[in-house]
Amino acid sequence: MRKPFIAGNWKMFLDNTTGVELAKALVDGTKDVVDRDILICPAFPLLSDVAKAVKGSRINLGAQNMYYEKEGAFTGEASADMLLSVSCGHVILGHSERRHVFNENNEMINKKVLFALKTGLKPILCVGELLEEREAGKTESVVEKQVALGLNEVGVDNINNVIIAYEPVWAIGTGKTATPDDADAVHAFIRKIVAGLYSAAVSDRLRILYGGSVKPGNVDGLMVKENIDGALVGGASLKADAFLRIIKFESL
Ligand code: PGA
Repeated sequence: MRKPFIAGNWKMFLDNTTGVELAKALVDGTKDVVDRDILICPAFPLLSDVAKAVKGSRINLGAQNMYYEKEGAFTGEASADMLLSVSCGHVILGHSERRHVFNENNEMINKKVLFALKTGLKPILCVGELLEEREAGKTESVVEKQVALGLNEVGVDNINNVIIAYEPVWAIGTGKTATPDDADAVHAFIRKIVAGLYSAAVSDRLRILYGGSVKPGNVDGLMVKENIDGALVGGASLKADAFLRIIKFESL
C-alpha cells in the first residue's frame, strides 16, 4: 500500500564533477524502475548541476538541510526557496549529524519542518537514539519525544507530506545495522505514536524509512518488514553499483 522510498544522503562527499557522474549513472540504471520513489540528496553546491543531470528521469532531488527563515542575514544557511529553485522536492531535517555535531534541538528542527511544509518542500524528519540511550532502555522515550516535538503543529492536512526516517545513531556509518526485527519494532512504535497524534488512517499512509549502514547485502531483509517502507542510505549511496542494488531491493 505504501510506495517504497529509497533515498541517498551524500553528506559532505563528492564534488560537482563526481556528483554529476554519479547522478548520470543512477539515471541510466533506473530507467526501468517504476514502482518505487528514488531520491538523492547532494550537498548544496552540487544541487544545481545534479538537478540538470536528473531532469526528466526517475531520480528526484532533495537537500540535506535548510533554514527556517525566508531570507536574511544568515551566513552559511540555505533557504527553502533556494532549494525549490534548484528543483529540490524534499529536504532531510534533524539528521543525527545535525543534532549531535551542530547541536540542533527538537524545537529548531520543528521550525524547519513547519517552514519546509509551508513552502511545499517535503521534509524527511530523522529520529533515532544514541547507543547509551538504547542500552539504558530509553529508545522509545527518545524517539517518541523526537517524533512528537518534530511534528508539533503539523496539521492533519500536511502530515502525509512528511516522511520519517528512523536512524539509530549507533548504526550510522558504523557498519552496525539494527536487525530487521529491531528496526521494525521501532517503526511500529513510531506508527503508533503518529496514530495517537493524528489517526490510524494517517499513520497507515506514513512512510517510515530505516537508515544506518544500509547496504546491498542487508537491504532485502529490511525491506521485507511490514513497517519498513524504505531506506535512507549514506555511505552506500556514493557508489552507483551499490546504490542501484539497494534501489532494486527484492522484498520477496
Ligand atoms: P550510513 O548513513 O548509511 O552511512 O550509515 C545513513 C545516514 O546517515 O543517513
